[in-house]
Amino acid sequence: MTNRILIFDTTLRDGEQSPGCSMNLEEKLKVARQLEALGVDIIEAGFAIASEGDFEAVEAVARQAERAIVASLARANRADIERAAQALKPARRPRIHTFIATSPLHMRVKLGKSPEEVLEAIRYSVTLARNLVDDVEWSAEDATRSEPEFLARAIEIAIRAGASTINLPDTVGYATPETYGALFRDMIARVPDSDKVVFSTHCHNDLGLAVANTLAAVMAGARQVESTVNGIGERAGNAAVEEIAMALRVRHDVMPFTTGIVSTEITRTSRLVSAVTGMPVQPNKAIVGANAFAHESGIHQDGMLKDSATYEIMTPESVGQSHSSLVLGKHSGRAAFRDKLAQLGYQLAQNEFLDAFRRFKDLADAKKQVFDEDILALVEDEVLRGHDRIAVAEVEVYCGSTGQARAILTLDVDGEEKMAAAKGSGPVDALFRAVRAIVPHPEAQLLRYEVAAVTAGTDAQAEVSVVLGEAGRTARGMGAHTDTLVASARAYVNALNKLLQKRGRSALAA
Ligand code: KIV
Ligand code: ZN
Repeated sequence: MTNRILIFDTTLRDGEQSPGCSMNLEEKLKVARQLEALGVDIIEAGFAIASEGDFEAVEAVARQAERAIVASLARANRADIERAAQALKPARRPRIHTFIATSPLHMRVKLGKSPEEVLEAIRYSVTLARNLVDDVEWSAEDATRSEPEFLARAIEIAIRAGASTINLPDTVGYATPETYGALFRDMIARVPDSDKVVFSTHCHNDLGLAVANTLAAVMAGARQVESTVNGIGERAGNAAVEEIAMALRVRHDVMPFTTGIVSTEITRTSRLVSAVTGMPVQPNKAIVGANAFAHESGIHQDGMLKDSATYEIMTPESVGQSHSSLVLGKHSGRAAFRDKLAQLGYQLAQNEFLDAFRRFKDLADAKKQVFDEDILALVEDEVLRGHDRIAVAEVEVYCGSTGQARAILTLDVDGEEKMAAAKGSGPVDALFRAVRAIVPHPEAQLLRYEVAAVTAGTDAQAEVSVVLGEAGRTARGMGAHTDTLVASARAYVNALNKLLQKRGRSALAA
């Protein structure tokens, strides 16, 4: 059995199912390009039948991908499978990923099907998918709460019908490392021809065990792992690709497996996904959190100065984190800025570059020292909001310990400047009320407002994240600026753009 583990990335499908994490087409293409740079083997680009947007995303990623296999999800029926095949037409290496639930609870309550009907659906769906593409993956949804005897029969049917990957998801995050590993050992031992297919893991993090369960299954014979960048996904999320890849690398002594992950691309990928989804990475998150390589206590700092191996099991450089370094000043020109962007992994189109350069100059005027982190925050803030229909043009705020806070705000709405003034209980409240005055959205509620500093110092840029909710939909936005209030306005407006996109194009006029 090979010791190469295939990385199946589902950031664009299961990851996008996290509340408020939806991405537009352009953002999905950026993430897909970066996933190839990261070295994933398979990109699950979406669920083609779910919506027109999902179909277009699968088709566009299929067209763009140079090396990776591109997969689309499909339920066990003709319409889903044919739609997936259609979206995957431009792919060099297409894969249909079809699934059906196999647990007694899901079969009875969700599907309303008898076990025999489910087996028939597996035979039918995998055979149909196999007639349309060569590479078919079959998943047993809620595998970890399925009867082992029945699950083994289902897997055998899927293999006979032509599936070459068998995925056993822990859909509700119920498994433990022992039980999940045992499930793979049991199925691989019992199912005929199990050695002719690749067994795959797919773990959710409801008990915080997604990565541990994934690794237990690898030890038990799985050779594909399904994961997402930063562990985003339904509810508590999916297994995080960066944690799996680094665990396999750092503990190669006890888990002798390799992946195609280019570890130095991990931080860049994490930042990109966080920026396009508006989902901040918690500071103490393993591998990619802001504190993952920070040493606070004196004893630790002393040890680090003597030998970094005292308190670090991997270097920040190995995951693509550079130490804060003073980069550019206000006299730096375009060539130096372009060079810095290239070092940080950004190749911008000319108009994006000019916008970013203009903002860099403003930042260098406002801030004494400009660090790599500042450049990253600025580029992500400026470029990733790409074609937002509403943009912040000017912010003026009056506040203090006497009187009510007041904001005067100018927004660019579809190319037209619109201004409003509003009062509020504080400057942020006043600003957000001004946005509402210009673009009314009475049904939407502010669900979350968070501020973090990009670097140390009182002149640091603020990175603000905002979550808006409306009729069961959520949208996140981010904004960065040395002025916390400008960053707040940008974050709110970014979230509003995403909410309007979700509502549909006609909402703005309404
Ligand atoms: O969690 C799950 O069961 C899934 C399947 C559709 C693969 O995401
Ligand atoms: Zn899932």
